[in-house]
Amino acid sequence: MGEMSFSGGVYQSLPARAYCDETVFAQERVRIFRRSWQLVGHQTDIPNFGDYVVEDISGVSVIVIRGQDGEIRAFYNVCVHRGHELLNGKGCTKKMTCPYHAWTYDTTGQLRAAPNAAAFPGFDKSRYKLRPVRVELFFGLILVNLDPDARPMAKLAREALTEITEYAPNLTTYKRADRTERLARANWKVVAENFNECYHCAVVHKTLTTGVVDPDQYRTSGFDYGIRHASPARPEGQKSYSYVADPEARTDKFLTWWFFPLFALQVYPGGIVNTYRWKPLAVDATKIEVDWWLPEAKPNAVEHEIILQHRTTTFAEDAPIVDSVQRGLESGALGYGALVVDDACSSQSEHPIMAFNAHYQKAMETTAP
Ligand code: FES
Ligand SMILES: [Fe+2]
Repeated sequence: MGEMSFSGGVYQSLPARAYCDETVFAQERVRIFRRSWQLVGHQTDIPNFGDYVVEDISGVSVIVIRGQDGEIRAFYNVCVHRGHELLNGKGCTKKMTCPYHAWTYDTTGQLRAAPNAAAFPGFDKSRYKLRPVRVELFFGLILVNLDPDARPMAKLAREALTEITEYAPNLTTYKRADRTERLARANWKVVAENFNECYHCAVVHKTLTTGVVDPDQYRTSGFDYGIRHASPARPEGQKSYSYVADPEARTDKFLTWWFFPLFALQVYPGGIVNTYRWKPLAVDATKIEVDWWLPEAKPNAVEHEIILQHRTTTFAEDAPIVDSVQRGLESGALGYGALVVDDACSSQSEHPIMAFNAHYQKAMETTAP
């Protein structure tokens, strides 16, 4: 597909009911969320043998665990005896013992022990393994995908790889430094559209548009993987901060790669990295988690200031917006919204939502497995 192009004009949004309808949400779970790469964390979250995290991937519980060989593996959190879940939360364990009948698996997912095993004629432990889930490391970020046939992330996102390498060259070793989160009372698509269009930036985000990015030069474009955002960094003297966390990082741009449908990677000038993860909890509820990744796990004073600035300005400013849009869409007053696109695809244009819709429609049309 390469870069998507859109011509200026007025287009229709998705129908309002697509943001409110339980049936649509149930279809999205199967056709979109369970077939796409989803962010779980970073390899530095689970540095040692036996370190694990359990994550809910749109209603499916998944274990991500580091093995004795250093490999990170992912499994359905489902005992293959009769279905009980094995682990929850996060921690460290060298073997996984099911709380129901104590079948015990090693970190490769192989069944190692079962009570009274020797007394069951024909029972062969080697034939029982946890069902694996696709897992990939993407610049150190741990991604999982419930679709065994999914395109590898490095192929899907190939247009983004060089730039990520230049602007976040050491992300593979960065550590979790902070988290900002909230629950949006809005459909995940309302939140995704709000994240990707900057028509509202000058209206809603004064700090971002005066101190971090240049709204006149802010550009967004659609790709196979999702949507790329780029802006030159504000010149010295006009920045809300002047700081470089990683001397090896290129620092002349603010960049975001939004990966359809539920996560994004963002680099603030100076090699300061965050990831967004959106968890669609219900048709009208989306948990938003922003994790900050830095060379050291403890943010220094300047980094803390930047994290705080994002939390109290851009992030906070979008909260009432998306909740209000959801109420509007649920009111029944609107059949379809209007999407306004200019020929230049400027920051004051809603072509990113056209790109979102193209991804969305393609995924929804694909026959569910
Ligand atoms: S369901 Fe896990 S041991 Fe029986
Ligand atoms: Fe916003």
